[in-house]
Amino acid sequence: MDLRARLTRLLGAENLKFSAEDTARYLTDHRRLYTGKALAVAMPRDVPQVSALLAWCNDAGIGVVPQGGNTGYCGGATPDESGTQVVLSLERLARIRSVDADAQTMVAEAGCVLAQVQGAAASAGCLFPLSLGSEGSCQIGGNLATNAGGTAVLRYGMTRDLTLGLEAVLADGSVVSNLSGLRKDNTGYDLTGLLVGSEGTLGVITAACLKLYPQPRSRACAWIALRDARAAVELLAGLRGALGDRVTTCELVPHVALELVLRHIPEARDPGLSPAAWYLLVEVTAVEEADLDASLERVLAAAAERGIVLDAALARSERQREDFWRLRESVPEAQRAAGGSLKHDVSVPVARVPELIERGAAHVATLAPEGFLVAYGHAGDGNLHFNVNQRPGADAAAFRSRESALKRAIHDLVAEMGGSFSAEHGIGRLKVEELERYAAPSELAAMRAIKHALDPRGILNPGKVLRAARERP
Ligand code: FAD
Ligand code: MLT
Ligand code: ZN
Repeated sequence: MDLRARLTRLLGAENLKFSAEDTARYLTDHRRLYTGKALAVAMPRDVPQVSALLAWCNDAGIGVVPQGGNTGYCGGATPDESGTQVVLSLERLARIRSVDADAQTMVAEAGCVLAQVQGAAASAGCLFPLSLGSEGSCQIGGNLATNAGGTAVLRYGMTRDLTLGLEAVLADGSVVSNLSGLRKDNTGYDLTGLLVGSEGTLGVITAACLKLYPQPRSRACAWIALRDARAAVELLAGLRGALGDRVTTCELVPHVALELVLRHIPEARDPGLSPAAWYLLVEVTAVEEADLDASLERVLAAAAERGIVLDAALARSERQREDFWRLRESVPEAQRAAGGSLKHDVSVPVARVPELIERGAAHVATLAPEGFLVAYGHAGDGNLHFNVNQRPGADAAAFRSRESALKRAIHDLVAEMGGSFSAEHGIGRLKVEELERYAAPSELAAMRAIKHALDPRGILNPGKVLRAARERP
C-alpha cells in the first residue's frame, strides 16, 4: 500500500488533503520566499490523531512540518521541495477549553486564532495581552512555537512569559501535558519553556494554559513627533520614570514608513503633526480608573520643553486611537505593497537603538544603493525591523543581489553591539546558517543534543532551526 493510502487508513480521508488545488495554500510561506511540496496536508481533529500521526511518521521516518496560521517570516511552516513531508495543520484544534477569570488563566487549543484567544479573554472580563499585526490569522500554537513578541512586550513580556504550561505531542507520539495552571511548579526540567520558541522542531503543541490579566480601565495613546531617533530612548526613560510599568507600548515609526502607509493603505489617516524624521506610538494603560491623558500630557510637555518632542497628538476617542494604531500596524503591509524588501529582525540594548540606526543606515547607503531604509518597530524592547525597500524604478535584480552582503553587515553590527540577529521572528529555514554562525559552539552543541534526545529520527520540522550533520558543509 502506498504512503497516501496508509495515511488515509490512519486518519481518514476527511482529515487529509492531497490535491495540488487543496494543498497550495499550505505550501508557500507568507513572504513567498519558499514553495515546497508535500506528501499530504493532515488536519487532525484531536490530540489522539496528532499522536497517531506522529507515531506513524516516526516509524516510517517521514518529516512532519507543523503549521499554524502560516504568517511566520522565516519559512518555518513550509515543507521542503522533496514532496516527502507531511504538513500538520493545527487549524481544527481550535477550541477554547476553559477560561478561569478568578485564576486568570485560559486553556486554548493550538489552532485558536490569536484574535479568538483575545476575544475569549475579553468576554470573561480579562485581557490576553499578546498583540501582533497578524493577530487575525496567526494561531496561538504558532505564537507559542515562535515565542512571538509584538506590541505589548514592554509591559507583559513575550509569549513565553504569558505561558503557564503546555500540552504537546513529542516525535514518538507520546503526549506531555501540563495544563494545571500552577503559578509555582519546580518539578524537574521546564519542558514548557523549552518547547516555547522551538518552532515545531521538538514537539507539536496542541494546547496551552495561558496567563490572563485584568482588563485595563484607563488608557492613553499618543502619536508623537520626535527630535530624532535618540529622543525615543530619552522619552521612554521619562515615561517610565513617571508612569512605571503603565507604559505598555513604545513603537518607533520613521517618516518614510508613515509615507508608505499613507500611500498604500486606503483607511490610513494622517495624524497631521508637524513633519519629523521619527515618530513614536505610545500607549499607557492602568487597571484602575486614572486620568492617564493628563499624566501622559505632563510627560510630553516636559519633553517638549527639553526639545525631545516636536509635536504630539493624544487620541481623544477610540476611533482616533485606532487610527494611530493602524499607522503602526500597517507598516508591514505598506512595505509589501511598495515592492521588494530586505528584512532584518534585530535587537540591541534599548539605549543603543539610535546607534544601531545610525551605523546600520551607513551600511544601507553603501551596500544597497538601490534601496532605502525603513527601520521601525518595538524600540521600547530594543527590537527594530531594520528593513530596506527597493527604490521606485531601481533595478530589482541589482537590489536583490545586495541581500547577503547587507545581511552580513547588519548581523555583524548587532553582534558587535551585544544584540541578536533574530529578536522575535525566529530562525525557521531562513536563518539556520545565521544561527550556526553567531551562536556559541557550546550553545549549538547543547541545542543539537536536545534535538537528538527529543527527536532522534529527526522527523520534526527537518532543516528548520538546526541542520542535521549530513546537511552541514
Ligand atoms: P506559522 O507561520 O504557521 O508557523 C511558525 C512556526 O511555528 C513554524 O516553524 C511552524 O512549524 C511552527 N508551529 C506552528 N504551529 C505549531 C504548533 N502548534 N506546534 C509546534 N510548532 C508549530 N511576529 C512577532 O513576533 N511580532 C510581531 O509583531 C509580528 N507582527 C507580524 C505582522 C504581520 C502583518 C505578519 C504577517 C507577521 C507578523 N509576525 C510577528 C510574524 C508571525 O505572525 C508570528 O511569528 C506568529 O507567531 C506565527 O504564527 P502562525 O500561527 O502564523 O505560525
Ligand atoms: C511588526 O512588528 O510589524 C512585524 O513583526 C514586522 C514585520 O511585519 O515586518
Ligand atoms: Zn515586530
